Amino acid sequence: MQPVRSICCIGAGYVGGPSCSVIAHTCPEISVTVVDVNGDRIRAWNSAQLPIFEPGLQEVVESCRGRNLFFSTDIDGAIKKADLIFISVNTPTKTYGLGKGQAPDLKYIEACARRIASLATGYKIVVEKSTVPVRAAESIKRIFDSNTKNDLHLEVLSNPEFLAEGTAINDLKSPDRVLIGGEETAKGKQAVEALVRIYERWVPRKKIITTNTWSSELSKLAANAFLAQRISSINSIAAVCEATGADVEEVAHAIGTDSRIGSRFLKASVGFGGSCFQKDVLNLVYLCESLNLPEVARYWQQVVEINDYQRRRFATRIIGCLFNTVTDKRIALLGFAFKKDTGDTRESSSIYICKYLMEEGAKLHIFDPKVQKEQIIGDLSQSCIVGEEPDRVTKLVTVEKDVYEACEGAHAIVICTEWDVFKELEYERIYHGMLKPAFIFDGRRILDSLHDKLQNIGFQVETIGKRVVKNGIPYTPTSSSKADPLAPPAKKVKL
Ligand code: UDX
Ligand code: UDX
Repeated sequence: MQPVRSICCIGAGYVGGPSCSVIAHTCPEISVTVVDVNGDRIRAWNSAQLPIFEPGLQEVVESCRGRNLFFSTDIDGAIKKADLIFISVNTPTKTYGLGKGQAPDLKYIEACARRIASLATGYKIVVEKSTVPVRAAESIKRIFDSNTKNDLHLEVLSNPEFLAEGTAINDLKSPDRVLIGGEETAKGKQAVEALVRIYERWVPRKKIITTNTWSSELSKLAANAFLAQRISSINSIAAVCEATGADVEEVAHAIGTDSRIGSRFLKASVGFGGSCFQKDVLNLVYLCESLNLPEVARYWQQVVEINDYQRRRFATRIIGCLFNTVTDKRIALLGFAFKKDTGDTRESSSIYICKYLMEEGAKLHIFDPKVQKEQIIGDLSQSCIVGEEPDRVTKLVTVEKDVYEACEGAHAIVICTEWDVFKELEYERIYHGMLKPAFIFDGRRILDSLHDKLQNIGFQVETIGKRVVKNGIPYTPTSSSKADPLAPPAKKVKL
């Protein structure tokens, strides 16, 4: 079989853009065209201001853009000339109809499959890179088989992407593994081998795992579900720590040194965010429900519920410490991205912390080093956040360009994203501009080494998974820690 010479990637998002840029960078003989329906996005990919912030991405793109890496809106042209087509369009959770709130919306994937079937000729490999439910490749194949032409052969592979935002370039250049699923026919094996040969250019062969298509699709869902489950597990232990006087960082270290458990993904936080974890766990829950496996569905559903609980619990603690009322109180919220080193805010816990504080009438002054004002206002104005009161955002939210401005005159600082710059702020200066008692709520455990210093300045420090003590005495908020004023009415898990 001829080696792949021309690649098309449909979807120039957080996955398609960086992953194809790395392929083009490492394989100069392959022409890579990334296409998207969104003209603004493509213009940004062709400019000096890329549409996404990702450390190291700019250098990779600039090394090959215009040489063998192209960004275009000519989707049809790119499909026609490609030997291999990646489908990297988004698969958001459905907001309507069957599976609403759980199942992934596959309409973009199906539209891509139909477009490829109608335009392509000859032999092409079609690779699903988007995260999809198990057996999605089979649906794509059925669309291809039902629309086949004499001169057309389309082979479908699954090649899920495991990159994490903020470390995407490193994850792509040195992945833990590359996973490729294909059909167990001679043609299927040939297609798998063609894709293996591309990755082999920079990934050791033993790290390239080949499986059947279904295992590959399920492995992606399972990997994200396991990672999310670890975070919910440690966050559940954080709640126990706060109630008992144990310290979740010490517990995480103690259990993480067991090589069977391992130390990564045990960082207690305000809850996981990002476009994948919640979506993919819900996708798995829906799949299990559809397969009549209610016990399994309930097990994974709990991962998402603990995440919601952790966000509510943190907001409740802020309100409790601030003497049970935040109405009209100025609160500086630092960090809006769902993690550091990205400008992405999808499903960020900050959005939900803001929601709970806005419901109590707090005046929020928000600062994030990489997220634009329009993005923050847009996220907070969604109907699921402001409900029937869209003017809440105009009345209560100010987006600040300067972190010191955000903290000026505030009752409390709430850290929601673990940006490194927040460790190096001039806290003495900040303290003098704040109302007293001045509180810091560290939702990311980034200030642990500064607790003594902050307390000596005069701050009341509160953090996830630990009762911070001063002179050996833990501070007790005025409200009962058992009360959870933000808790939704108890509901039965729908299964
Ligand atoms: C990815 C994956 O592909 C998704 O399955 C995964 O679960 C989440 O991450 P991501 O790259 O983060 O998606 O999504 P996004 O940044 O929204 O990019 C998708 C792009 O596809 C968008 O730029 C959108 O305009 C484009 N698109 C979508 C098309 O070009 N055509 C379509 O029909 C639909
Ligand atoms: C994740 C997976 O890691 C990646 O393999 C997959 O391809 C896409 O989904 P991403 O969402 O980009 O990547 O970031 P990740 O680093 O996994 O963080 C997700 C969320 O979990 C963030 O909000 C992060 O702050 C949080 N997190 C992570 C914790 O709260 N504690 C941890 O120990 C680790």
